[in-house]
Amino acid sequence: MSTPNIDIVVLISGNGTNLQAIIDAITAGKLHANIKAVISNRPGVKGLTRAQAVKIPALTLDHKQFTSREAFDQQLIQEIDRHKPDLVILAGFMRILTDEFVKHYAGRLLNIHPSLLPEFTGLNTHQRALDAGVKQHGVSVHYVNNELDGGPLVLQAVIDVEETDTAESLQQRIHQQEHIIYPMVIEWVAQGRLKVINQQPVLDKQLLETPAKWINNQLVN
Ligand code: GAR
Repeated sequence: MSTPNIDIVVLISGNGTNLQAIIDAITAGKLHANIKAVISNRPGVKGLTRAQAVKIPALTLDHKQFTSREAFDQQLIQEIDRHKPDLVILAGFMRILTDEFVKHYAGRLLNIHPSLLPEFTGLNTHQRALDAGVKQHGVSVHYVNNELDGGPLVLQAVIDVEETDTAESLQQRIHQQEHIIYPMVIEWVAQGRLKVINQQPVLDKQLLETPAKWINNQLVN
């Protein structure tokens, strides 16, 4: 049976390489999704151009034009909801979200964060991982709750940290992993394999008490 497409809205703040990976996966027929809109909180970023290049409606909602976080998130909700998305995808969307926003999209809001959460929430994750001397580093896809980079984990790509690694080399290698695992998780939702039941992610009818792992290009759960 063919998989019906789900409708998604992608939120960005910058370069949009994760957005590009999602667009490419759709084009390649590997991801059954329609990107109904891309919304950036920063004007003029490359991610907007990436959307426009493939005729996806691209909108800027500049947070600096709003008097409060609440007012911005309210407007954002309005812009998103006109597309009635099955999923809202945070793809490098560098904003702290209000509780109201998070509650509104409960079970439909995914984020990608460049660390093995709960380690290294926030910024500069690659340098902080190096400074901490960790042997492994990675990237996490998770449903979002109202903590910074918090919420139930779905999938983590794990890489070994090499002695020669710098923050830049780690960032580059992690980015490659991001571009594989984010479209993969969205496709799990499209295929009905990933659901949220009682606020917990369930993959292939199994409660994900710990996240699935993507290691050396293989899924390990
Ligand atoms: C990605 O590395 C993503 O994991 C990170 O922002 C980058 C966006 O890159 N997100 C966070 O740090 C969220 N806390 P992109 O614009 O090229 O997709």
